[in-house]
Amino acid sequence: MSILHHEFLHGGDYNPDQWLERPDILAQDVEQMKRAHVNTITLGVFSWNTLETEEGRYDFSFLEERIRTLYEHGIYTILATPSGARPIWMAYQYPEVLRVDEDGQRNLVGERHNHCYTSPVYREKTRAMDMALAKRFGKHPGVIAWHISNEFGGACWCDKCHEAFREFLKVRYGSLDALNKAWWTSFWSHTYDSWEHVHAPTRRGERATHGLNLDWKRFCSHQTADFCAWEKQAIRDGGSDLPVTSNFMGFYGGLNYANFRNILDFVSWDSYPDWHSTEQTDADLAQEIACTADYMRCMQKDRQPFLLMESTPSVTNWHRISRLKRPGMHMLSSMQTVAHGSDSVLYFQWRKGRGASEKFHGAVLDHDATEEKRVFRDVQDVGKRLESLREICGSLVRPRAAVILDQENRWALEDCFGPRVSGIHYMETVQQHHAALWKLGISADVIDADCSLMDYKLVVAPMLYLLRPGVAERLQDFVEGGGTLVGTYQMGLVDEHDLCFEGRVPHGLTEVFGLHREEIDSLWEGQSNHTVWNGTTCTLTELCERVHPDTAKVLSVYAEDFYAGEPVLTVHPYGKGHAYYLTARAEDKLLTALYRKIGPDSGVSPCMDAEFPDGVTVTERVGSDTAWLFVQNWNPCEVFIILHEMLIDAESGAPVTNTLCLPGYAVRILKRTAEKR
Ligand code: GLA
Ligand code: ZN
Repeated sequence: MSILHHEFLHGGDYNPDQWLERPDILAQDVEQMKRAHVNTITLGVFSWNTLETEEGRYDFSFLEERIRTLYEHGIYTILATPSGARPIWMAYQYPEVLRVDEDGQRNLVGERHNHCYTSPVYREKTRAMDMALAKRFGKHPGVIAWHISNEFGGACWCDKCHEAFREFLKVRYGSLDALNKAWWTSFWSHTYDSWEHVHAPTRRGERATHGLNLDWKRFCSHQTADFCAWEKQAIRDGGSDLPVTSNFMGFYGGLNYANFRNILDFVSWDSYPDWHSTEQTDADLAQEIACTADYMRCMQKDRQPFLLMESTPSVTNWHRISRLKRPGMHMLSSMQTVAHGSDSVLYFQWRKGRGASEKFHGAVLDHDATEEKRVFRDVQDVGKRLESLREICGSLVRPRAAVILDQENRWALEDCFGPRVSGIHYMETVQQHHAALWKLGISADVIDADCSLMDYKLVVAPMLYLLRPGVAERLQDFVEGGGTLVGTYQMGLVDEHDLCFEGRVPHGLTEVFGLHREEIDSLWEGQSNHTVWNGTTCTLTELCERVHPDTAKVLSVYAEDFYAGEPVLTVHPYGKGHAYYLTARAEDKLLTALYRKIGPDSGVSPCMDAEFPDGVTVTERVGSDTAWLFVQNWNPCEVFIILHEMLIDAESGAPVTNTLCLPGYAVRILKRTAEKR
């Protein structure tokens, strides 16, 4: 029986193919895994050459042996398809599997994650391998899931990809005429008169046609998702029904992970935060990770639990500075991901290799393989704690607030010339809103603009510049039905082709917000405006929009400049709900004040009734009659939290009242049962 969602998974990437000549080490691994409280490992991520030493000659004996031995010791396997890296022989035999860069040059052999996802040869080779693996291991009791490829990403400019791009465009537009219109190609005389002349954007060619840029990004994402679906089909055709995942990279900008939502059975995520830097506080970085985790959870169907597929047990060698995790941080950061809905803590990797570029990447076992080390004990502690928290596994994160982070919107905004070529800061803005909620103890989903809004009472749509058909209507229905919507400057300016809407903007939402926009001012570094709301003075920077409040009520105004006295924050009752609009980029305290007020007004309250010092946050998972509250201290020093309700310590069962003391970098898990709510 699978342990997915019955028990937290603890373990990670295991690369025994680097140690095949060392049976002593292979035997020792299993013993040491048991002592590290490992119950799951991921096998085969980069094993292609061991599995197919020469074309068509498969030898799965090492996998067979490892999966069986691990299973006999109670350790389950997530089995990877090896398509993340190719054997050298394949690149020489079939150069078409190598990617072509944007200057039209084919890559030379080497590295990984650099194959052409269109190449029929690469697809055939992958399919044959995946089918064979599925036939052999798809029903093995030790295998619990498939890990498709590894960290999909990147793009290829080869002829085959261009052909596929043109086919993608033919389906999308039907005619060249429609494409020319959608891309506004009369600009600079760039009208296409043949499909064959459509070329992907490159630095030596076209980059000014924004519709082309956007469609190329869409195509690359589509083609990668199609490759992933192709691999999944091979697994199914090989006779395995096990759930499939692929490991995502958080806020990676090259793919729209929403394209994978109907392909993967669940999402998994690789997370490598650089704790303890001088560039941001751990509390601020924790916020970014919280937002990323919420985004990863929402990239899958039904927002079910996901898996933390990779994290480092120690240092991350590719960070600019490989700083050690301070005592407590390994537990805290592992539990943070669990708090946001992960049913696992998995690592890259089990044992450090002796050579190549990851020899100094953190691993559970160092080169000396001793267990008398801080990292090994940290890992053991996480494993033990996950075992004791088994009852939380499978529970959900179900916020009543959502922040929209839409990848197509990001692509369009970041590609835009003006109003801030120096940095539009979309991702930072999304995170700033998420942070303001999170710091108040209000959990939020992070969803794309196509997601259903039915479960939410508060929806925040920062800088939702691009509106695909139906999005404005859904936001309108949401407010009409009683929801609270927060919109901001730069909203509703272009359609799905990145063509500016005609007429008043934000398009389709002027009645909902009760206002329309006139123009936007972009401020130089060092310039600012300010506003006073509810007695709080807040600085405004970077982007200041001027709007006309047709029927909206003005809550605060610009204090300076020629638009002094014009709206900064407005509210408009619409149907049974309310629509707030923020016209300028505001410092954190305005957002905090805003959500402190409109959260409860809209029926979204903090998940715990308490007073939190700075750098302390709480995140909630819910079961049928229990809520688990993960109280996290991101400060290096001890803090006290004043509780206004009685809770139970989920691990000791002891009641917790009045004051909760948390040492530096500590996490406590409290619970509240149904009767108490
Ligand atoms: C990525 C990869 C792993 C490994 C780690 C190192 O997440 O998927 O194979 O290279 O980075 O941090
Ligand atoms: Zn290609």
